Amino acid sequence: MECPLDGSFDPPGSELIIDYAKIRSMDKSPLKLVQDFTTEQYVKFMLADAGTEHYPFLNYLSATYGDCRHFSDIGTRVVASAAALGSNLKSPVWTFDIPQSIERHAAYRGDTEANYQAKAKSIGLNIKFHNLDLLKVSDEELKKYFGTWFVMLDTFHKPDTVPFEREFFQRLLDIGFKGILGLDDIHLNDEMKKWWKELQDGAVVGGYTTYDISEVGHFSGTGLVDFSGKMVIKS
Ligand SMILES: C[S@@+](CC[C@H](N)C(=O)[O-])C[C@H]1O[C@@H](n2cnc3c(N)ncnc32)[C@H](O)[C@@H]1O
Repeated sequence: MECPLDGSFDPPGSELIIDYAKIRSMDKSPLKLVQDFTTEQYVKFMLADAGTEHYPFLNYLSATYGDCRHFSDIGTRVVASAAALGSNLKSPVWTFDIPQSIERHAAYRGDTEANYQAKAKSIGLNIKFHNLDLLKVSDEELKKYFGTWFVMLDTFHKPDTVPFEREFFQRLLDIGFKGILGLDDIHLNDEMKKWWKELQDGAVVGGYTTYDISEVGHFSGTGLVDFSGKMVIKS
């Protein structure tokens, strides 16, 4: 289906409100509808409360602001965040993992990818899997993959040792990304804490605002980097 907004970074509406009360009280039924698209072992994380896991927050964004544009999700693993982002059963989700990753196969629960995708499509869940080295794709490809308003990044979490997150962030700046970047695990370890502090310190020069929304995100820390200037926190 055609999406006239494709390629636009601009978040929907005049304000993008992160409403803590609404996130905490999200009805779990949309996540229950997509819970079969991750592994059985992961369902309990997907259905955990805001402040413990970040899936209610992703469901809130999807339900409240999701439009015809795709969500981008980096770090597919067993498809939990991708399914939560797609839980409005309307917005496509493009999820990315490293070229050799086959972790997502566990989410098929013994079925084939074709059957998994057919079941997903039958309920309106639209997830596209990409296995790529995002530091090697061209700027043009990167603009296509991340030419949208929300990108969730949850990858290796060692931004000094394996600087993927740092380099990816720089690439987003280089393509003029103006949407919202979600970061998982900003308090997980010293390297992530240090990187988050650097992002906070670089906000004015970088032309963005950072928000720590861990209270309604993941217990290990959830941060938002708003390049759009539209984000309003209602805590
Ligand atoms: C913490 S898990 C992601 C969990 C998932 N987003 C969720 O909430 O269900 C981290 C994933 O990032 C992937 N990853 C690590 N480095 C990556 C990279 N450079 N590009 C894409 N994915 C990467 C790993 O293969 C792993 O599956």
